[in-house]
Amino acid sequence: LSHICRPCVCLATAIKAVLLLLTFKSEGNKIEKPNFILMIVDDMGIGDVGCYGNDTIRTPNIDRLASEGVKLNQHIAAAPLCTPSRAAFLTGRYALRSGMGSTGRVQVLLFLGGSGGLPPNETTFAKRLQQQGYTTGLVGKWHLGVNCERRGDHCHHPNQHGFSYFYGMPFTLFNDCVSGEGTDVLADLQHTLRNLSLMLGLGLVTLVRVILFLLVWLSNASQTAWMRLRFLLLCASFLYNLTVCCGFPGVNQEVVEQPMTVETLPQRNADRPFLLIFSLLHVHVPLFETPGFAGRSRHGRYGDNMEEMDWIIGKVTETVDSLGLANNTLMYFTSDHGGHIEDADARGQKGGWNGIYKGGKAMGGWEGGIRVPGIFRWPGRLPAGRVVDEPTSLMDLYPTLKYLAQDTQPDRLLDGYNLMPLLEGAAERSEHEFMLHYCGIYLNAVRWHPPGSDSIFKVHFFTPNFTPPGAGGCYETKVCLCHGDYVTHHNPPLVYDLFHDPSESRPLTRDTEPRFAEILEQTAKAVERHRSTLPQNQAGDSHTASVPNQMSWEKILWRPWLQPCCGTFPFCGCKEDTTHT
Ligand SMILES: *[C@@H]1O[C@H](CO)[C@@H](O)[C@H](O)[C@H]1NC(C)=O
Ligand SMILES: *[C@@H]1O[C@H](CO)[C@@H](O)[C@H](O)[C@H]1NC(C)=O
Ligand SMILES: *[C@@H]1O[C@H](CO)[C@@H](O)[C@H](O)[C@H]1NC(C)=O
Repeated sequence: LSHICRPCVCLATAIKAVLLLLTFKSEGNKIEKPNFILMIVDDMGIGDVGCYGNDTIRTPNIDRLASEGVKLNQHIAAAPLCTPSRAAFLTGRYALRSGMGSTGRVQVLLFLGGSGGLPPNETTFAKRLQQQGYTTGLVGKWHLGVNCERRGDHCHHPNQHGFSYFYGMPFTLFNDCVSGEGTDVLADLQHTLRNLSLMLGLGLVTLVRVILFLLVWLSNASQTAWMRLRFLLLCASFLYNLTVCCGFPGVNQEVVEQPMTVETLPQRNADRPFLLIFSLLHVHVPLFETPGFAGRSRHGRYGDNMEEMDWIIGKVTETVDSLGLANNTLMYFTSDHGGHIEDADARGQKGGWNGIYKGGKAMGGWEGGIRVPGIFRWPGRLPAGRVVDEPTSLMDLYPTLKYLAQDTQPDRLLDGYNLMPLLEGAAERSEHEFMLHYCGIYLNAVRWHPPGSDSIFKVHFFTPNFTPPGAGGCYETKVCLCHGDYVTHHNPPLVYDLFHDPSESRPLTRDTEPRFAEILEQTAKAVERHRSTLPQNQAGDSHTASVPNQMSWEKILWRPWLQPCCGTFPFCGCKEDTTHT
């Protein structure tokens, strides 16, 4: 070295080298905390995925994640519907603990201009990871609320819940978002109106006219023409905003495109932050028709969307690999709940297939609505090709990520468990000896995996009434309800052993199952233990939960002053600056 540089220069070079080494080393330390990429699909059935037994939909990229990682065969969503399932996923606790369980007809947030949503004082794993120095981002669907009291307060927004970066849809896709696709939001209302009109012997259109006339007349009883005009404008603005604003992409708290263009959504992608939740809009209706995928599958538009979604998963995986992040990145793939078997778009294309499992989205505790794919891939750490049959929950992500981020700070009581021992093969049994299944805030069923046994007993206290009866779903309203005359209570409860009867088709009886009495006794005790952890007035299935109920009509209903809007309300509208993508 003395040949080529004078000593002082050499020293400077050495120091630089040490500094570089130190930086490198500190980066190395940081790398001990892995990155997380969590991919969650909307409304996808477990029977739609190749590695879960589908042989006609091509999902090579998802299958690859499973063969390079760990596949969970009994991965359970905490609720059979988007809003409560996602709330439980992010908080690691049953949805009723955060007021996100429904008490009546409304089971998901229906309008962006409502005031319900994930309460600002809730803790998500994203918030915890942020405190551990993680960069956090959410791309895609949110559906956990936006504003509380005024447009722009963003009290429920992802930015309030631990995501420093948000690019996506604050809401969800509904058929109502695209003209000509029919309605999801108003399906229930339409059904009620239809019944009412039948009852009154009136045509539906006549009835709607009469109701509108009455409303206008009432609002006008002592009003001026100006008030009447305002009322009509409000109605029109509601219908306009239902379509225009039900979904649109936004960056952080800014609306960037309104109304949204469905065709541009699938191509949006993101990469690299430490925690990235990639919350796909696929495969909820309305189904995309993207060039390159349209007409390619053997299952119509639904199959095309599945294959497109799989392609996106492949792109994310490729990016992780090509950036050399694979060994330090835990990738996770799941669906928020089971397929929506009653749903169909204007062409009659069905949504979702739950394989051998009974029921689907919004059917309480039936397996088809809650058993979803669960795949973890982390080449540096997890064995390739491991399959876990034990019960696991989407709520397990919270404690798992916390553990991996070395977060040992005190926390609330969680309903999930750290999955690492099961994933790595250090444990063979799940810590979920019991798992509870909620329909809204009502305890619907309990799963019991007795120690030392393969059996998975499931005890249903009530089941949803199908419409028409025996139809295998609630075809009249598209979703089943959890209360009153919409359910049938069972005493003794309906009991199945999912290990021998995964389709829940042969109820056990005292005569066929020697452990019958024990099953009822053990599950009743588990319910008691669980209830003792709930606030007093929640434990008795009471309608007034002590945490504010976010799913009441009062919180759900659309308010013009809460409607996110770019432009001047009610004339919302803007087009995304494409340089942003
Ligand atoms: C694969 O998925 C399609 C579409 O959801 C479904 O119709 C078909 O029955 C599935 N195949 C199997 C073997 O589950
Ligand atoms: C990733 O980890 C695996 C298993 O420990 C190892 O064989 C492989 O070389 C690692 N790859 C990189 C790029 O470090
Ligand atoms: C959040 O605030 C509400 C009151 O607004 C309270 O009832 C609830 O217990 C709080 N939740 C947490 C987790 O602190």
